[in-house]
Amino acid sequence: MLFFVDTANLDQIREASELGILDGVTTNPSLMAKEGISGEKNILKHYRDICDIVGQGRDVSAEVISTDFKGIVEEGKRLADLHENIVVKVPMIREGVKAIAYFTDAGIRTNCTLVFSAGQALLAAKAGATYLSPFIGRIDDIGWDGMALIKEIAEIYNNFGFETAILAASIRSPLHIIEAAKAGADVVTCPLPAILGLLNHPLTDIGLEKFLADHRKANG
Ligand code: E4P
Repeated sequence: MLFFVDTANLDQIREASELGILDGVTTNPSLMAKEGISGEKNILKHYRDICDIVGQGRDVSAEVISTDFKGIVEEGKRLADLHENIVVKVPMIREGVKAIAYFTDAGIRTNCTLVFSAGQALLAAKAGATYLSPFIGRIDDIGWDGMALIKEIAEIYNNFGFETAILAASIRSPLHIIEAAKAGADVVTCPLPAILGLLNHPLTDIGLEKFLADHRKANG
């Protein structure tokens, strides 16, 4: 299972990378805006900086703003040309599906975003998306079951051998990560605190304290 960090904050990406378990990064326009990154030149530079921090072979999702086929294709090509790590993130809309099919034929990797149903997941896989991003947290937020969608998509993809990787997105907590792993997600993209939350267990702390105390007693 791959671990991506879901942020455009360079310090957090560095921190996640230094942990030694990071496989990639996802961003979106809201996360870029949160870091105060605006203007095409700055946005492209920021994506390049992220790619340099994570290093070779780690995918970085960069989202298009265009919503028409021609615009998505032009923007996606510019993003893909930036760095070999870039995966073009495309919204699950009619023009987006068309663009994903185009990118698949052109050998450009894609992440189909804003996915909330199994039908959308089927279309993205048919178009050859590299990654599919179902938004778990946002589904839970409206009182539905986000994890049930991951299970449903995993079943469908297994039935037909689709190669699109299920990237559980909109993760809110360490428990979401565990549940997504059990439900069959190939990748989780998480805020850094959710990843760090996986470290915590009171018995680990109690056990370590005792080991160190015993060592101190025996060694003076
Ligand atoms: C990542 O690909 C998504 O854009 C992100 O996980 C959305 O998360 P949010 O629902 O917390 O905004």
